[in-house]
Amino acid sequence: MGGLDYQEIISIVQHEIEQTSYKGYPTELYEPMNYMIQLGGKRLRPVTTLLAAQLFSEEVSKALPAAKAIEVFHNFTLIHDDIMDKAPLRRGKETVHEKWDDNIAILSGDTLLIEVYNHFLEGNYKNIAEILKVFNQIAIEVCEGQQLDMNFEKREDVTIDEYINMIRLKTSVLVGGAFKIGALVANASESDATLIYEFGENLGIAFQLKDDYLDCFGDPEKFGKQVGGDILSNKKTFMMLKALEMDTTGELKKSIYQNEFNAKKKIDFVKSLYKKLKVDELAFDLMEAYYRKAIQSLNKIESPQFSKNKIIQFAEDLMQRAS
Ligand code: IPE
Ligand code: IPE
Ligand code: MG
Ligand code: MG
Ligand code: MG
Repeated sequence: MGGLDYQEIISIVQHEIEQTSYKGYPTELYEPMNYMIQLGGKRLRPVTTLLAAQLFSEEVSKALPAAKAIEVFHNFTLIHDDIMDKAPLRRGKETVHEKWDDNIAILSGDTLLIEVYNHFLEGNYKNIAEILKVFNQIAIEVCEGQQLDMNFEKREDVTIDEYINMIRLKTSVLVGGAFKIGALVANASESDATLIYEFGENLGIAFQLKDDYLDCFGDPEKFGKQVGGDILSNKKTFMMLKALEMDTTGELKKSIYQNEFNAKKKIDFVKSLYKKLKVDELAFDLMEAYYRKAIQSLNKIESPQFSKNKIIQFAEDLMQRAS
């Protein structure tokens, strides 16, 4: 039976993005945009758009402009996220605000966001209004999630439910939306578009739980970002919240709210506490639970099993990722 594997789809997406170059004056604006989108990355979101399109239609290439739009949006969020998180590294290279400066990162990010709409228009979709309505809702939710993420850095009483809602907004609505927009381009029914969204949303929550795990315990060579960055900025990850709940000595709380600290010592202390309390194992259990929930939604879609299997293969490999 036909249909593309996700690895073949990655090659199509890579090729498409390599062809994308923003040209204009002044170069300080355009160079960082091209730097960011050519920096690499897993290209997971455009792949999901094309996998969803393949689930409901034979014309996968029709979804390519929408897939590119979503990847460009993701890259815009990363440029601004790295300013907010004071991150030095992205995909193994210098972040835009480090290589240039904060103002350049703000403005080149803004311009990438506007290019997103040009990419959507390239698709000549007859249901463009519906697609943009879905996309705009998601884009606003991502900003809501990012604001909550920053608010939580300063709060001591964040609950697990609040954390899940925050990562749902900052990360998983875009994964869900990337699938849903692929389905809309392929004229899927309303109920199938909702099911594939729910699949992506729960997969996205599992994905962000893994991102938070890798931020602590990832291999710096493979991960491509600063390991321990979340600990340094007091991010309220699932592991942090669980550890705060379980740490009866009060040491963790003390360490978090110290003004003066040695970065390496703080990271080492928090990581060893996480291992001692086994909160990393709890994070994996939760990841599994969201993954299973995601698969339940996928199973309800009435598409050929071989086509759904391409998506399951992708999702399983995503759960095993090290970067
Ligand atoms: C990073 O996303 C931001 C998160 C939502 C965790 P990815 O891990 O997909 O980043 P790239 O695109 O592969 O670099
Ligand atoms: C980022 O979450 C989510 C968005 C970019 C919207 P993180 O801050 O955890 O992402 P990374 O770890 O920097 O990639
Ligand atoms: Mg970040
Ligand atoms: Mg962030
Ligand atoms: Mg992260």
